[in-house]
Amino acid sequence: MNESDADLAPPVEDSAAEGGESVGGLDDLLSSGDRSLVLLFGSQSGNSEGLAAKIAKDAKAYGLEGEVHDMDGFDFNSLSSKKRVMIVCSTWGEGEQPDNAEDLWQFSISDSASRMEGVHFAILALGDSSYEFFCQSGKEWDGQFEKLGATRAIDRLDCDVDYDAPAAEWLMDALPTLAAVDSTGHFHEDMVDSIKMYASGTSLGAEGEDGFSIPDIAIEAIQVEATIFRYDPETSSTGTDTWLCSLSANMSVLEVLRTLKMTQDGSLTFRDGTVDDPNTAISVNGRLVLPGLTRLDSVAPMRDGQVSLRIEPLPGFDVIRDLAIDPWSLERKRESSEPWMVAATREGAQTPQGPIGTMEPGAAAKIHSIRNFASQNIIHSSSDAIPHANGYLGPAVIASSWSRRNDPRTSPTKRKAIDEMLSSHNGIKAETDFAPIRRQSSVPRQVSDALLEAKNSVMTDEGFNGKHGKHVWWYTWSVKSSGLVNDTVIYRQALGPFALLGNLFSGVTARMVLGFTRTGGNMFNGMLGMVAPPAGIGKMPKQFNSSVDKHHEVVSIFNEMDGRF
Ligand SMILES: Cc1cc2nc3c(=O)[nH]c(=O)nc-3n(C[C@H](O)[C@H](O)[C@H](O)COP(=O)(O)O)c2cc1C
Repeated sequence: MNESDADLAPPVEDSAAEGGESVGGLDDLLSSGDRSLVLLFGSQSGNSEGLAAKIAKDAKAYGLEGEVHDMDGFDFNSLSSKKRVMIVCSTWGEGEQPDNAEDLWQFSISDSASRMEGVHFAILALGDSSYEFFCQSGKEWDGQFEKLGATRAIDRLDCDVDYDAPAAEWLMDALPTLAAVDSTGHFHEDMVDSIKMYASGTSLGAEGEDGFSIPDIAIEAIQVEATIFRYDPETSSTGTDTWLCSLSANMSVLEVLRTLKMTQDGSLTFRDGTVDDPNTAISVNGRLVLPGLTRLDSVAPMRDGQVSLRIEPLPGFDVIRDLAIDPWSLERKRESSEPWMVAATREGAQTPQGPIGTMEPGAAAKIHSIRNFASQNIIHSSSDAIPHANGYLGPAVIASSWSRRNDPRTSPTKRKAIDEMLSSHNGIKAETDFAPIRRQSSVPRQVSDALLEAKNSVMTDEGFNGKHGKHVWWYTWSVKSSGLVNDTVIYRQALGPFALLGNLFSGVTARMVLGFTRTGGNMFNGMLGMVAPPAGIGKMPKQFNSSVDKHHEVVSIFNEMDGRF
């Protein structure tokens, strides 16, 4: 987001809401009364049976107790007192019930079958679409349950031969829907989303084949104060919202965001995805993280059973809305770096698979480790220089290019092109302060090491030539020879009446009179400063004597002197 926009925009009012209440209601629903889910399988060759057993295990995460029954010999009328029933049934012959289901089916359509009001049901039908009567048995069960007065909790799923993935997807809705039916048979539609969240944050005990079971681990609930950055592009307003809620300590930050969006504010915008999706990256308490891989209780110290989170978009990118950033500025920079491989012809080895290019293992490990980061967005925004140097390619692009530069397969022409890019004013010289990059635990050490290597290589090649390099070299030389950075201020003081006049206006004289030095060091370190040639003339970055608007250049100078940053 543009900084001036942010300054002008009226802040959104802070709001606080209690999120604990709905979690309490959920606990009641999932733990009281009859929580059974009757799973009836009709199966000829075992597919439906296996699936039913798996569903019974999965059901635990939704606070349900799955009971798996063979249709063969099952008392159909016992279903009328049940609240939740799922049928998993295949089709055989020419649209017929499997053998183990035939008797139960015949009973269900007879006059002896009891009514089923109060029963919520879901049908998972297995079949093969190459048959004329695709999933016929499932369709029949579906119609018959409805006829007997049962309530369809969710539309039937007709699975083809590859049933695993569609069944798993369907169950993500079917199980929470059935779980939202309470012990009286009442369906709580408003609880379905909360149950989904509950299930995704629950860690359950495991059961071994020998019957040994590891007990469920009770997850402690903690108080979370989440302060989230908000930006509304329509009104250009920025601000923060704060929520106080009670959540289980093992939730990830991404799950917290999802919960807040579902239960508190549907307009909360962030990038959702798999746990390791690099585009989900955000800043939590100043740490740049993938929220799906970041546990709630790992980002901040717990104080009086409470954790405070400050959640913001990644710095260095334009913000689209709330926590969603626009990654295209980085993509364009990446594109401009021409990241593709241009390989040279090289020697290979004859292997049983044919001739193949070889690489020394050390070199292979090195080029791989430099690029082996979880999110280029995180690497990019870890640099403090990015918001201040518009064209700067940034550490993600530079590190990748440096890896390519060190790749023995890269052609000499390409290597030269990379060198030119690295030493350009948008290259590595614009990155002067590696400390913020190193400080981020999500940035591998190999990346910051690669950046330092790239910078040293460029500086060495150029012999500290070029505008920026000269500044650094001359300034460093003059400061080193006189002792402390403040002495160079003395050089300027010694330039004569005009410079003195300039100093008066720029505040240098005032600082000297008041004994204030920017480094907190001595004002004066001997006579050298008065007699030495004014080494800084025309070379001194102006920010030393005026406002510091190019922070990264100043930092670079200090780094060259004593590596303090
Ligand atoms: C001999 C035979 C007949 C089948 N007839 C049908 C059919 O009429 N309609 C259908 O949708 N699927 C039909 N199928 C496919 C099965 O329903 C499918 O393979 C299912 O996954 C088997 O599940 P199960 O192991 O639980 O019985 C048939 C399969 C076989 C081997």
